[in-house]
Amino acid sequence: MQNKQSTPSSYPNIRMRRNRKSGWVRNLVEENTLTSNDLILPLFVIDGVNKKEPIASMPDVYRYSIDLLLKEIEIAANLNINAIALFPVIDPDLKTDDGKEAYNPHNLTCKAIVEIKKNFPDMGVICDVALDPYTSHGHDGLLGEDGNILNDETIEILIKQSLVQANAGADIIAPSDMMDGRVGVLRWSLDNYSFQDVNILSYAAKYASAYYGPFRDAVNSGSMLKGDKKTYQMNPANSLEAIREVELDIAEGADMVMIKPGLPYLDIIRNVRDRFEIPVFAYNVSGEYAMLKAAANNGWLDYDAAMMETLLSFKRAGSDAILTYSAIDAAKIINGK
Ligand code: PBG
Repeated sequence: MQNKQSTPSSYPNIRMRRNRKSGWVRNLVEENTLTSNDLILPLFVIDGVNKKEPIASMPDVYRYSIDLLLKEIEIAANLNINAIALFPVIDPDLKTDDGKEAYNPHNLTCKAIVEIKKNFPDMGVICDVALDPYTSHGHDGLLGEDGNILNDETIEILIKQSLVQANAGADIIAPSDMMDGRVGVLRWSLDNYSFQDVNILSYAAKYASAYYGPFRDAVNSGSMLKGDKKTYQMNPANSLEAIREVELDIAEGADMVMIKPGLPYLDIIRNVRDRFEIPVFAYNVSGEYAMLKAAANNGWLDYDAAMMETLLSFKRAGSDAILTYSAIDAAKIINGK
């Protein structure tokens, strides 16, 4: 050891690279970490037995019949994934203008919930409360004669839908139609029927996004959709409005709030995280998954690396949990499998 100079060098004054010089020090100063506790796996369920249908716009994601869905959930459970979000693919013959299949206590969603909770009582089950899987027009609510999506008239059906799902064993219900006055009424009716322990995860700030395309392919609602969802889902240009949406849902009794899509809305996640003391979930939606898979399948991106970097960005933005179609892939990497 010897002095290189008699006076301190002024260049560079501070060396940021010292904290990056080796893996051990990078690990010590790491600010955000992704664990399997952060992951929620969305799953598509179809009627039938021993069915596993590919989804063209979502490579490596499938629609499963309940028996095979259970096998997928077993994989998730063994990787310490805590919760799944269930999305039914409804037989077109059961779709009606009023979406009444949504509150049939023996519908596909309820049958799946019962089987999942029977086999995996410790797996959290999250269910959407919205009519789009069940309506012949593909909208999340009732369609008025003038083409308007009816806000207040839809709530009765959503109440019934949430009650059949809670009764089947859903742990969390997730009102996702982005219409007004959902959370408060659903909280009240769940409590009224002794489901006071069922959580409400509100899709509080959900944008009218092009990134839902592959999801609509997966549940076959895209081709049926008349028009767009811009009178209820948010304008991608708005940020303050998301704060108001979250504020209202918290006031109405939401236990957790969700921002959706994820990647194009990381700023919203950060704003909400900074403003409210409530768990914030992000939905890394189907289009985000499809982009990554398409690039990876062309050999243009390293899927594992880009996927883990993407999921970490949600932690950095302030998300508590992330709904992602990559949940199993990420959990395998996290668990070293
Ligand atoms: C329906 C719903 C949608 C998604 C989740 N719930 C689509 C939509 O609003 O049209 C999209 C999820 C995804 O793209 O991964 N209420």
